[in-house]
Amino acid sequence: MPEPFYITTPIYYVNARPHLGHAYTTVIADVANRFHRLCGRETYFLTGTDEHGDKVVRAAKEEGLSPLTYVDKISGLFRDLWPELDVEYDYFVRTTDLAHTNVVREVLQRIYDSGDIYFSEYEGAYCFGCERFYTDRELADGKCPDHKTVPEVIKESNYFFKMSKYQDWLIDHIQDNPDFICPERYRNEVLSFLREPLGDLCISRPKTRLKWGVTLPFDDQYVTYVWFDALLNYVSALKYPEGEQFKKFWPAVRHIVAKDILKPHGIYWPIILKAAGIPVYRQLHVHGYWNVDETKMSKTLGNVVDPLELKNIYGSDAFRYFLLREMVFGLDSSFSEKALVQRINSDLANDLGNLFSRSLTMVHKYLKGIVPRREETLQSTLELDLRSYALNAIEQYRKAMENFSFHKALIAVWEFINHINKYIDVMAPWQLAKKKSQRKQLEQALFNILESLRVVAGLLYPAMPQTSRTMLERLGMEPGYQGLDGLATWGKIPPGTKLPKTVTLFPRIDIDKVKAKTRDAPGNGEDVGMQKPLVPIESFQQLDIRVATVLDAEPVPRSKNLLKLKVDVGEERTIVAGIANSYQAEDLLGRQVIVVANLKPVRLMGVLSQGMVLTATSDKDPCKLVTVDNPATPGTPIK
Ligand code: MSP
Repeated sequence: MPEPFYITTPIYYVNARPHLGHAYTTVIADVANRFHRLCGRETYFLTGTDEHGDKVVRAAKEEGLSPLTYVDKISGLFRDLWPELDVEYDYFVRTTDLAHTNVVREVLQRIYDSGDIYFSEYEGAYCFGCERFYTDRELADGKCPDHKTVPEVIKESNYFFKMSKYQDWLIDHIQDNPDFICPERYRNEVLSFLREPLGDLCISRPKTRLKWGVTLPFDDQYVTYVWFDALLNYVSALKYPEGEQFKKFWPAVRHIVAKDILKPHGIYWPIILKAAGIPVYRQLHVHGYWNVDETKMSKTLGNVVDPLELKNIYGSDAFRYFLLREMVFGLDSSFSEKALVQRINSDLANDLGNLFSRSLTMVHKYLKGIVPRREETLQSTLELDLRSYALNAIEQYRKAMENFSFHKALIAVWEFINHINKYIDVMAPWQLAKKKSQRKQLEQALFNILESLRVVAGLLYPAMPQTSRTMLERLGMEPGYQGLDGLATWGKIPPGTKLPKTVTLFPRIDIDKVKAKTRDAPGNGEDVGMQKPLVPIESFQQLDIRVATVLDAEPVPRSKNLLKLKVDVGEERTIVAGIANSYQAEDLLGRQVIVVANLKPVRLMGVLSQGMVLTATSDKDPCKLVTVDNPATPGTPIK
């Protein structure tokens, strides 16, 4: 019996809705899980939500909800999203579950009893706006990055975990287990953190400051803070310490995280496990970040990608394929809808879809749609070559999947698809069909093509479960996965099966039509006349809107619609405006425009934009600059 497999995603904070980044990690965990099931392993897949802490309390307050109602709501959004993306998890853990908090308290007590948690005074830079301490590194020019205020230095007594005691042990462990943290770049990053002395970890907050957490078992005036609570989800979900699932799956655990939480997973977590006497996890797999059109995804920039919206437009399989094929595991990648459509059109509609429908059409044209009988004695060199190519593709795929190299696994499948196309061209069934004497060769060639498609369908099961199922059903196979070893056995499609005439797996997509359709859909924000909330006059007065004169303008390299403007707003500023589709740079010189001058600067395609030019914009007409009807001194406020 192959050993079991246990895979986890980070548990996501509930202060934001699910986005592309969360979807990526959870989809790859699902793919890895399905792959290992395909290999005959018993698998367990855990995801969930991280629900304590002051950020959650603040987010709840902003929505006028109690923390509990709020966390139920956002956690529900995550839970409801995963089936939409065909993610089949086994358990959804929430840090507000009683079973989880009991494990946290039990482990904390054990570590406290062993002497690795101590009480001490902490002095640090505290922002009252954020209700939290900042390290020097986190501050921007000595100020809180959110509130732009200088934090106060305050002293507070708290509980600390003796991480420093385990530093040498951890270095040895990482060095003795080369694949403990992968890919290698992240292993090296952790080792380089560990070259500096490790401080002890502050693990508590006084209840006077934060109540929304797990009360310490040894001091009811404190709650535990962030990582101690969150990381233990990976064992609490398995009913640690006595649960059968813990015993079966914990030794086989693989965690997946992105690089943002490398330190807690690469350093805090193994040390917590060691101090608690729990065997250290098996492997940590760290991936890079998705950016959007080369820019960091953020609420402020308004470029957060909603996975559900993409799934509704393009389908779950196509979305999953894109995520897996486009990102090299471990490196950053850039998302754009255009790239997604290109992949769908070239890889899915063209390569895979055409091959499938072309093959079914030939079986109909030359064999009345009936799967032929296979003659073992008729093996040609070309058939043997095709079969060894299939075996090779399966092997490449297996290795890549085991290493979490999802894009390589898919490349192996697509190389095989190309090879099948070549086999068709060389065998030329349309020529064989011309002579009765070649009937056997014709049947054999078509049989081999259908068998190759069965292998492709089987290999696609982890990444594209719906497509895999459709292909197998159309080939007359039982739906469901065949097991990786079963895939390699030639001759499984039942002869005599009547195949459907043709199937369009992926229609080609015209990106312009998709964009027009989604923008016209009700509820999409850009519509003219959209209802926006009423705001008090004070909110409007916070905006610094001024007349500006354009001093210089030039297109932003590599962008289609951005112009870089140098403007006089009473002082000189650079502003990037998305108006190149409607205005030539040279026509703008000397023109007066209206700008919002106190927006937080953002970087767009590498250029720092220090404000926003106002335009009248709708989907129907070219955009128009807002201006004054008589010349005004640059910097004149708009009220
Ligand atoms: N709650 C903690 C994790 C605790 S785990 C014991 C947390 N939550 S989070 O909501 O911020 O999720 C972070 C994770 O979401 C990343 O590690 C990654 O899995 C995923 N991603 C969030 N943004 C991402 C990108 N832009 N790109 C890729 N993945 C990203 O940290």
